[in-house]
Amino acid sequence: MTEFPKGFLWGASTSPHQTEGNNVNSDWWAREGLIPGMDLSGDADDSYHRFGEDMRLLANAGLNAYRFGIEWARIEPRPGQFSLAELSHYRRMIQSAFDLGVTPVVTLHHFSSPRWFAEQGGWSAPDAVDRFTKFAAAAAEILHDVPWVITINEPNMLAMMTMMEDAFRSGQVKEWQTPTIQEEGIADAPVMALPTPSTEYGAPLAEAHHAAREILRSRTDARIGWSVANQAFLASPGGEAKLLEVRHDWEDFYLDATSGDDFVGVQSYSSQQVDANGIVPHPPHPDNTLVGTAFRPDALGIAIRHTWERTRLPILVTENGIATSDDERRVSYTREALRHLSNAIGEGADVRGYLHWSLLDNYEWGHWAPTFGLVAVDRTTFARAPKPSLTWLGDVARANGKPVAGGERSI
Ligand code: FCB
Repeated sequence: MTEFPKGFLWGASTSPHQTEGNNVNSDWWAREGLIPGMDLSGDADDSYHRFGEDMRLLANAGLNAYRFGIEWARIEPRPGQFSLAELSHYRRMIQSAFDLGVTPVVTLHHFSSPRWFAEQGGWSAPDAVDRFTKFAAAAAEILHDVPWVITINEPNMLAMMTMMEDAFRSGQVKEWQTPTIQEEGIADAPVMALPTPSTEYGAPLAEAHHAAREILRSRTDARIGWSVANQAFLASPGGEAKLLEVRHDWEDFYLDATSGDDFVGVQSYSSQQVDANGIVPHPPHPDNTLVGTAFRPDALGIAIRHTWERTRLPILVTENGIATSDDERRVSYTREALRHLSNAIGEGADVRGYLHWSLLDNYEWGHWAPTFGLVAVDRTTFARAPKPSLTWLGDVARANGKPVAGGERSI
């Protein structure tokens, strides 16, 4: 049986825009009002005020790590104007985690940027890297003792979104795509494969990551990395050459940019085939998740192996989970995923922690329907209702993964 390493981090993740509420100075808030069919984030989970309760739920269940983000749009509401009050707010979050014996894992950029940054050209503007670096320097003031910092969440997804937004703005595409929602069990249409991001859109993100890394290194004790969305691509017969091409633009470009980092974040949900024509859309299947992706807990093992082979860096699983309304499926998915993780450790991958997406049901970038949380949230009273999956994952954490390691199935 493979043991999970001593000191393994067991936790859950969230992001600011998806949980805090009223992120009115961000580009996402602006976008929600413009695109027909999108739900609004509104008050979200009101975690801006209720983060203490969220962290207590996580800690009391037995988890020992919490990944959350600090919101650039709040910290720098106007170019160059930094809010000391907001910095103290996020410092209080960090301190609350420490006080509960929970290791904070902090993300600087999780898809949302200040509205002014987007209006001035966003990641395509000539001074984008400089802007982000200045924000990182301001953030460093509150991060001195945070052990893990993620500069940019899923730069590959962010590059894809920036590319899509450019195409939307210039009229090349008529619709801004948001995740497809399908009823579990009656999924009848294949989900379109996301467009592959051109590395031209990834390049400024890599530059921003490196610049922020240097600033953070000089001012904090944090390990610095970024977290890459891994699609666990597999070649269908005849798709071997295409796989390398697609994987380069989706993943390897971003994994190679981790050279010199302290760790790499792996984010994995499902797996996709690549044939000679490219990525094959998830075929309709009754087991598909609420976002239309295939039920593939083995994706985590594929993602970890590829990331380890490509980077040889310590790995933190910074997201893994399932959009489902059936909490028993969440437990089965996670149990399987952890067995694959444990097997990858057994084969030599250096994995330091597992952070489930997500602690809370939250605003899934345009939609409220896909529920990924270990905890449900009533969106009118904001009451939190922990699901059995939270207790289950907490028990696994307390036993440092023994119940799910290397093929055992006792929990
Ligand atoms: C990832 C995002 C995260 C959440 C999950 C489901 O792509 O980083 O915010 O939306 O997917």
